[in-house]
Amino acid sequence: MLADVVVDLQYGDCGKGKITNFLCTQNDYTHVIRYNGGCNAGHTIYHEGKKIITHHIPCGVLHGIKSVIGPGCVLNVKQFFKEIKELEDAGINTEGLIKVASNVNIITDFHMIEDKEDTEIGTTKRGNGPAYRDKYGRKGVLALEVPELEEYIIDMYTELHENEEFGEIRVLFEGAQGFGLDIDWGDYPYVTSSHCTVGGAILNGVPPSCIRDVWGVAKVYETYVGAKEFQGHEPELEKIREIGDEYGATTGRPRQTNWLDLDLIRKAININGANIVVFNKIDVLEKAKTWILYDSINAFHFDTGEDMNYYIKDYINKFKPNTEVLFSGNKEII
Ligand code: IMP
Ligand code: MG
Repeated sequence: MLADVVVDLQYGDCGKGKITNFLCTQNDYTHVIRYNGGCNAGHTIYHEGKKIITHHIPCGVLHGIKSVIGPGCVLNVKQFFKEIKELEDAGINTEGLIKVASNVNIITDFHMIEDKEDTEIGTTKRGNGPAYRDKYGRKGVLALEVPELEEYIIDMYTELHENEEFGEIRVLFEGAQGFGLDIDWGDYPYVTSSHCTVGGAILNGVPPSCIRDVWGVAKVYETYVGAKEFQGHEPELEKIREIGDEYGATTGRPRQTNWLDLDLIRKAININGANIVVFNKIDVLEKAKTWILYDSINAFHFDTGEDMNYYIKDYINKFKPNTEVLFSGNKEII
């Protein structure tokens, strides 16, 4: 068995969907597995000229690859069926490809109602936190108990370890949210309720020794949505938000914007063991003609994108030599 993992090094919305989509075209995966979170996530994918936003279903389905909602996730059943319909309406054949692990916990209507009351964290109001609370409180409802899901249910152990269908299992793990929102490593309590790091991926049934590549995805600036104060003071940051179209894929909320923080990147690379790092949206800073980053408490200003990218690459290779560092524009493949 082997597995590649795509993780977000910042606060979500860095372009994991784009990278997982790209990797599906490059490698012969047997499974794409969403390993954490619920429909709080929103992955924007451009497929044959169409813009598709998925919340639960991994993008493997666009490539005819078995797409699994792993046991680390929580699932809203109504939203799940809505997405299947949207994919079918976009002309994508999903038959037999979408699977739900039997031990996924369900997001109930009560979880949604409860989450709507949140004002402290600035959640996406999708019932995520209450669903995980009930999971860990051992009061949750499992996917295998939901009759409508019957034809989608798989036993994750059998699927990965006792499977006659494939010679070798080759998994692509698609993470949701990001390092800065991780329940253990993020800025608690301004976090989500799941494990967004590689640690969260291996909880879904793949042993650590099978991990091959860890793709860390970031942007050349930061965005965050939620209740804490995050937006930087410079007026250029407003401009970057507009140029970058930084509005939530799930909630439409404007994302607070700030400069790239290399301390966070360094932590996220080290904790995840990322060996390939992609910085997205370099075209946004090109259009804004502003290149600023923070290294420790110091702000550094650059005259060109190349200068800034060189600084970033050098910084990463100093603490983790041999890390591949890539830079990409918003709609560039990589
Ligand atoms: P929750 O996951 O809905 O409970 O929200 C907790 C925090 O995570 C809030 O700050 C949300 O805005 C943030 N969050 C959750 N999912 C995403 C995402 O997919 N992208 C960006 N932020 C997210
Ligand atoms: Mg997103």
